[in-house]
Amino acid sequence: PHPFYASLRREAPISQIEPSGMWAVTRYEDVLYVLKNPQLFSSEGFRPAVQPAWLQQRNPVADSLLMMDPPAHTRLRALITRTFSASGVARLEPYIRESAQSIVDDMLARRRVDFMESMALVLPSRAISALLGLDPSLAPRFKTWADAVTGVGIVPAEDMKRRAELTGYLDELKHHLTSVLELRQREPGNDVVTDLLQARAQGGSMSDDELLGYCVLLLVAGLETTYDLLGLCALTLTDNPDIWARLKKDRTLVPKFVEEVLRFHSPSQSTIRTTTQEAELGGVRLPKGATVLVQFVSASRDESVYPNAHHFDMERTGAPSLAFGQGIHFCVGAPLARLEARLALEALLEKCDRMVREPGPVTWNVAITTRGPAVLPLELIP
Ligand code: HEM
Repeated sequence: PHPFYASLRREAPISQIEPSGMWAVTRYEDVLYVLKNPQLFSSEGFRPAVQPAWLQQRNPVADSLLMMDPPAHTRLRALITRTFSASGVARLEPYIRESAQSIVDDMLARRRVDFMESMALVLPSRAISALLGLDPSLAPRFKTWADAVTGVGIVPAEDMKRRAELTGYLDELKHHLTSVLELRQREPGNDVVTDLLQARAQGGSMSDDELLGYCVLLLVAGLETTYDLLGLCALTLTDNPDIWARLKKDRTLVPKFVEEVLRFHSPSQSTIRTTTQEAELGGVRLPKGATVLVQFVSASRDESVYPNAHHFDMERTGAPSLAFGQGIHFCVGAPLARLEARLALEALLEKCDRMVREPGPVTWNVAITTRGPAVLPLELIP
């Protein structure tokens, strides 16, 4: 997609795309402007993307803070800021490190593995179960549920079988989370669900739908993008043995490597906003109610802020990455995602001499706004 975005940035940085009629925003500066002006660019625009007309039940994520504007957004977001801060997630570090190491041991024992299935799915599933207090044995279901929440928006209208399947998964997800909420109501634990229930008991106003939506958002947001990020890190390392060698020599480069993977590939490709009134953006007049597609994937390669933007460079400094968004909706899970990626890579670098990818083109997994490898067959050499 990159040459296409580069031509849009040059020739039509704000352009209407057919058949959806959405306005694609492709330059760094304009993306930042949209994200920093929530009063003009509302997050409510997200809802139709997850709540198609055919879906008879409520998609729980539609009631989450991702799709809200202030003041509702401010009220809900304040409830979890502490748990997700860098110091908040640092409490999980020993558990995530141990999990990453045992996953790598297991992969080495099997030697030939699909990295996406063995690591990229398992590590974030464990982290998110620990955080939310979910039953980790259900981890294989998490991805199916998360895919259902985001998948309803892109299922072709005529695919009745897939629609029924996704509706069933949403039922299952709601049922499971409702039972977790009931359990934590009776027996508080050391997890985000308990934090949210306590905040509500202490007068933090939150409806049942908002509570459920919160948990579903954390599950989906915590899983899909981290899954992609881990896959993209592994892919970059197998395809660039020189980078692998540099990281092996100097582990302190790992966080810089992760930041550059985030910029270079932007696992979260885009987000959606709607104009609350007529607005001018990059010299283009947008009508009230216009749906705006904010393209992180393009902004991250904008040559006007990143010199040599299509070159992978861990030493890069300068413009902050937009991979986790900006402004009031800046990703709550950024410290957790960075922690998981660092610990997964440290375990791989410590225990493996090399990682070799099965030759051939990469099969990509493209969800509503995310992109990463769908499968990544590797050989791990101890
Ligand atoms: C929001 C990306 C991991 C939870 C966002 C946004 C982006 C993003 C771009 C802003 C969306 C917008 O402005 O509309 C990513 C990436 C991740 C990642 C690239 C991994 C590599 C996580 C994790 C969690 C999480 C691990 C939690 C466990 C959230 C939540 C929001 C959010 C709750 C909504 C915040 C709000 O609306 O105020 N994420 N995310 N994310 N993310 Fe992440």
